[in-house]
Amino acid sequence: MGQRRCDVAVVGSLNADLVVGVERRPAPGETVFGSDLATHPGGKGANQAVAAARLGGRAAIVGRVGDDGHGALLRDALAAGGVDLAHLAATPGVPTGVALITVGPDGDNSIIVSPGANARLGPADVEAARALIESAPVVSLQMEVPLPAVEAAAGAAARAGRRVVLNLSPPAPVPDGLLALCDPLVVNEHEASFLLGGSGDPARMAAALAGAGPRSVAVTAGAGGVVVADGRGTAAVPSPRSEAVDTTGAGDAFTAALCLRLARGDSLRDAARYATRAGAAAVRRPGAQSSFPTPEELPAP
Ligand code: RIB
Repeated sequence: MGQRRCDVAVVGSLNADLVVGVERRPAPGETVFGSDLATHPGGKGANQAVAAARLGGRAAIVGRVGDDGHGALLRDALAAGGVDLAHLAATPGVPTGVALITVGPDGDNSIIVSPGANARLGPADVEAARALIESAPVVSLQMEVPLPAVEAAAGAAARAGRRVVLNLSPPAPVPDGLLALCDPLVVNEHEASFLLGGSGDPARMAAALAGAGPRSVAVTAGAGGVVVADGRGTAAVPSPRSEAVDTTGAGDAFTAALCLRLARGDSLRDAARYATRAGAAAVRRPGAQSSFPTPEELPAP
């Protein structure tokens, strides 16, 4: 990628996704059969970097893998996707992150993450990548790496006048100071309910969250589209229709597309319109990164 400025700097996780299709998930103490095992490159951070690059953006990742086969798989996938790997570190003696994923008949997924090397990402890694973080117009963060790394990245980006996008996934308590930097905070309905301590429709939750600290908010509702809220008020953006084969990574495709369009100067509403098309496209093929669309593959709005 040379010296060209990055559009989206992603600070986040890399996982090997071990995926089995199931008719139904086992109850405690029960055994069920599934499909053949598939191993895909994944992790919310890596997925977002690859998705942004596939849409024509310049993306970089700050993250950690282990010195093992899964780490090599992830490195190869990111390199093939055109992602800048200058700040991808290897942690000897620690396994690469793994996600154990079951995909149901409707394309719905359940995920258990074993963080491995992701748990070793810290403020020192962020400091080593400070020039990248301070120069990218958008810095994209998620919650599969330790909170101190997320806070350090958000702080460095905000001090440099860059836009911070935080996808609060998986949901966890975050300090008010971090929430105040999010522009937007991206959450699905489950994550929004976690933050608010109760559920509601996406529009109400977006308005409530926007009043609770972040500069702006996007509440995603899968096929139901997204509601964005900022200083201009609240707007619902529908999603194009899509036949779901595997929803894994659809949220990452959405967030990456949102970040890319914000980096290119779109308003939050326009960026969300584009991003719902990327999210809808990403459910049509199995796996996360393998399902991410090129601009030509985006469905009509
Ligand atoms: O968002 C999907 C991702 O979540 C998967 O790729 C898996 O690795 C988990 O991190």
